[in-house]
Amino acid sequence: MTGLADTTALLLSRIRDVADYPAPGVVFKDITPLLADPAAFTALTEALAEISVRNGATKIVGLEARGFILGAPVAVRAGLGFIPVRKAGKLPGATLSQSYDLEYGSAEIEVHAEDLTPGDRVMVVDDVLATGGTAEASLQLIRRAGAEVAGVAVLMELGFLGGRARLEPALDGVPLEALLTV
Ligand code: PRP
Ligand code: MG
Repeated sequence: MTGLADTTALLLSRIRDVADYPAPGVVFKDITPLLADPAAFTALTEALAEISVRNGATKIVGLEARGFILGAPVAVRAGLGFIPVRKAGKLPGATLSQSYDLEYGSAEIEVHAEDLTPGDRVMVVDDVLATGGTAEASLQLIRRAGAEVAGVAVLMELGFLGGRARLEPALDGVPLEALLTV
């Protein structure tokens, strides 16, 4: 398995649709079968690392929680440092925080301010781009820390939710690369 089409087919075959989770009418994209398959997890890691290196990233930001699972091996594979962007209240040091709107209510993410500095070029890694709200907030955090954004790399984009259009202004010309669009 080396071609792009082979990788895409392998990844797609290891994502499980779970109907009516977490709410009636929602089809949840479960990546745990992919994580449990070493060939698929390795192919995913290599594809995201290739995107990161090709776009000149110097650091990988992973978005809690599933972005940690993908981002950490990507950072190791690409030979880059890994920076966790956490849900509010989990980081012990001086943080920058960013709020963003959810369908109902709001959420807040944080990063250690000292982890991102001018001169860094940061690739954001996550499993899913849905509405784009989480990724958008992470780009704001990265720029507020003085670092540059190299791009956003995700396993899958839920095309019907319009996250790409929402994220477009915040991308400011850097790429959003999704391995799968579902
Ligand atoms: C999920 C997913 C993405 C985010 C995408 O995270 O892993 O991070 O939602 O949604 P958006 O594009 O609408 O912002 P969630 O925080 O729900 O769960 P997790 O902690 O398991 O990653
Ligand atoms: Mg998440």
